[in-house]
Parts: sequence; structure tokens; C-alpha cells
Amino acid sequence: MSFSGKVAVVTGGSSGMGAATAEALSSAGAQVNLIDIDKKGAEEIAKKTGSEIYIGDVSNSEFCDLTINSIAEKQGQIDILINAAGIILRADALETNDDNWKRIMEVNVDGVFYMCRSALSHMVTKKSGVIVNFGSIWGDVASSGATAYCVTKGAVHQLTKALALEHAENGIRVNAVAPGEVNTPMIKAGRDKPPTRDELQDLANATIPIKRLAEPEEIAEVVLFLASEKSSYMTGSIVPVDAGYTAR
Ligand SMILES: NC(=O)c1ccc[n+]([C@@H]2O[C@H](COP(=O)([O-])OP(=O)(O)OC[C@H]3O[C@@H](n4cnc5c(N)ncnc54)[C@H](O)[C@@H]3O)[C@@H](O)[C@H]2O)c1
Repeated sequence: MSFSGKVAVVTGGSSGMGAATAEALSSAGAQVNLIDIDKKGAEEIAKKTGSEIYIGDVSNSEFCDLTINSIAEKQGQIDILINAAGIILRADALETNDDNWKRIMEVNVDGVFYMCRSALSHMVTKKSGVIVNFGSIWGDVASSGATAYCVTKGAVHQLTKALALEHAENGIRVNAVAPGEVNTPMIKAGRDKPPTRDELQDLANATIPIKRLAEPEEIAEVVLFLASEKSSYMTGSIVPVDAGYTAR
């Protein structure tokens, strides 16, 4: 797949699957723009990808508009938007306080909405563009002990479908990947202590039919397919990349 001449924006591009997607897009010829709250991580990935970096919080709509407008002005267009920025909260409903609930909604839902809205305002003018959002298996099936996270990912799936319908006749496609358990910093985040390699393997044995975690690059392959013309007949799709987790 060649992305030569394409202008791509990747949120959450400093780490994990966003970073893997940024690297894959850059290797395939895209001009990649990284947006992340983590400056150090962004600088490391930018060294490998030659990306422009924009440091800020996707839950701030003004930051999203200013950043997207600036990229569009400098580079002429926004061809591809990948929304990978996100956080996890490993807490059941009774353990979730108002601040935690609001914060995960702001980042995982508001942030995706603001970025989509900003990018779409440019894509509609060109009558072309592709958006790929990061949902989750937990936006489809639920999990106990991560109530708010499940709700945010369900919202991302519905946002993806609603935007796909709204822009189907504008030459703009909107899809989402729904990864299973992936070997990124997030898999260790939000726990009392980070799981050991053996504990992660136990988790995989117990819950994943293929019995291993995904590597971020394996998810990035599917993201690139959805961002490419090879998926030209797909919009409004939520694509599980979960080694059979949701096939049960
Ligand atoms: N790791 C998994 O098992 C898994 C599974 C399914 C879905 N997901 C989703 O995939 C996406 C990528 O996850 P990952 O595992 O690569 O996580 P990660 O923690 O490795 O990367 C997330 C990135 O988002 C950035 N970020 C967080 N809050 C931000 C904010 N407010 N503004 C800007 N940037 C912000 C972080 O700095 C980080 O670089 C997330 O949306 C996550 O919910 C992860």
C-alpha cells in the first residue's frame, strides 16, 4: 500500500498502536503529523518518522481546531485522521468517582469527537478523506471492572457509525478498529502493580483464543488497510482485531 502524497494525522502517536500506525504510514510514504500529550514520546517517534509534532490534550476542542487548521493550512489538506489517543480506567462503577468518570469521557469520547469534527470540516471541502477510530472489544462486549472505559468505547463505535452515515455521500469514509488485548503500555496501566510477563500470558491463555497478546504492529496493518483505497467499499464498520475474543 502506498500513501505517497497523503497527509495523515495520528493522535496518540507517541506510544503503542498510535506510534506503530504512525511508523507504518510514514514507511508507506505518508506525511505524518503526530498529536499527543506526551512530548518526549512524540519526539522519539518523530525521529523515526520525520513527523511534525503537536503537543496538547485532545479533550480541548480549541487545541484540536487550531492544530487541524494549522496542519491543513501548511500541508494543503487532511487526507487521513487516525484517532488512537486514549486512556484506561480499571475500576468498577462503585469505584469510579465523578472526576475519573469525567476525565475518561473527555479524552476517549470528547477527544475523538473534536478531532473528527475538525478534520471533517476540511475533508468536506475536498470531498475526500478517511477516518479510522480506535474502539475496543470492550465497546462491543463488556468487561467487569472497567465500566467507564467500556462506555467510552461503545460511544466511539456509535460515533463512527453516525459520522459514516452523515458523510457517506461526501466521499469520506469513517471506520473503527476494535482491538483485543494488545502489548502496549496501556495493558500495564491503571493496575496496582504492572503484570509480569507470566501474568500476561496467563491472561492470554484464559481469554484469547489464539492465546497471545497482539503486537501493536498487527493492529496497525488493519488500520492502514482501512485508511487505504483497498477498503473503498467500507464505511461505518467496526472491525474486530482480537484473535477471536468476540467470536464466542
Ligand atoms: N492496549 C490495548 O489492549 C487496547 C485494546 C483495545 C483498544 N485500545 C485503544 O487503542 C488506543 C491506543 O491504545 P494503546 O494501547 O496504544 O495505548 P498507549 O497508552 O500506548 O497510547 C496512548 C497514547 O495516547 C496519548 N494520550 C492519552 N491521553 C491523551 C490526551 N488527552 N491527549 C493527547 N494524547 C493523549 C498517550 O500519551 C499515549 O501516547 C486507545 O484508544 C485505547 O483505548 C487499546
